Amino acid sequence: MEGHSSIIKDKLMQKISLIDIPKVHDERGSLAVVEKDTIPFTVKRVYYLFDVPIDSYRGGHAHKEQESVIIALSGSFEVIVDDGVAQKRIMLNKPTQGLFISTNIWREIDNFSSGAVCLVLASSNYNEAEYIRDYNDFKNHVTG
Ligand code: TYD
Repeated sequence: MEGHSSIIKDKLMQKISLIDIPKVHDERGSLAVVEKDTIPFTVKRVYYLFDVPIDSYRGGHAHKEQESVIIALSGSFEVIVDDGVAQKRIMLNKPTQGLFISTNIWREIDNFSSGAVCLVLASSNYNEAEYIRDYNDFKNHVTG
């Protein structure tokens, strides 16, 4: 069964990836740069979560069309990604690391540290019609 479960996880891992964001560091501090080639899509929209209570839960949806990169600009939080078959919990705690999430992946975000800032780079404009906000609808959507 071990082999079977790793194949299931591999399928999920094909739809997400961790991106290293180049950093310039000197005695004055650090600077991270996101350029066109850093992100696997053209960024159409940027939004960020801040003033998030530490017991808060965000996300709880998938996108039919939008791809995203999530970055912990400050502090930390955990992202649960789910392709309808396998789940993975990923801690983000570095402003130089982005989590790329492809389409049709359910995501939830929890375990926010105090003062955490969650930056999201999105491939499309905000369009509620391409959200799936019900987990059963999501399961039906991805399993046909
Ligand atoms: P929501 O999707 O619930 O946030 P989360 O990413 O935590 O799941 O969005 C919260 C509210 O903000 C909701 O009413 C939709 C609105 N919103 C916009 O108006 N524009 C945006 O770009 C986003 C991401 C959300």
